Amino acid sequence: MIFKQLFDQKSSTYTYLIASSKGREALIIDPVLENVSNYIILLKELDLRLVKVIDTHIHADHVTGASKLKDITKCSTIMGDLTPADSVEIKVKDDEYIKLENLKIRAMYTPGHTSDSYSFLMDNYLFSGDTLLINGTGRTDFQNGDSKDAYNSIFNKLLKLPDETFLYPAHDYKGEKVSTIGKEKKQNPRLQVSSVDEYVDLMNNLNLKKPDEIDFNVAKNINLGA
Ligand code: FE2
Repeated sequence: MIFKQLFDQKSSTYTYLIASSKGREALIIDPVLENVSNYIILLKELDLRLVKVIDTHIHADHVTGASKLKDITKCSTIMGDLTPADSVEIKVKDDEYIKLENLKIRAMYTPGHTSDSYSFLMDNYLFSGDTLLINGTGRTDFQNGDSKDAYNSIFNKLLKLPDETFLYPAHDYKGEKVSTIGKEKKQNPRLQVSSVDEYVDLMNNLNLKKPDEIDFNVAKNINLGA
């Protein structure tokens, strides 16, 4: 399998490129608009044909490269069924599978960071978007975020996956690249709560500043960055 974890410096976003092998079909998760030309170069180098691009949710901190990638490669755009982005071609539901030749990716509805957030599981690789981060969790104070929903998505869905599941989030701000569900259960400070109320309280008292350019980014992303 080909698996590349790409990083956007400006927004600290991780983008993932997946394909079964050279010369085959490829899928990209959470592309960043400014990096599209780099993805195209990488696809050429690996002789891959981009057929699908997924956004885990409507991002607030960068503009998605989905629409531009579609223009260049004719790939299909995919998001969860509750996305406000009308132009998304394939809207997947909870527990639905996305196929990429012999690879299968399970869509998991994990609202809380935003109401449209999905995570994606391929074998033991979990792409958690901003629902579960390494040593953190996605904030819940904008885009219809909800800390109770986030608790449910994290504790009753993602943390129920096997401990050895690799965690690949959409962001990291400290240079961490990968974790596991088991490690996060033990070490992630946000997960050391004993009830949903305790988690809601924790999330309600983060006092985070509004992301730069959130209004511009969200407006652009509702059109998939077009
Ligand atoms: Fe986000």
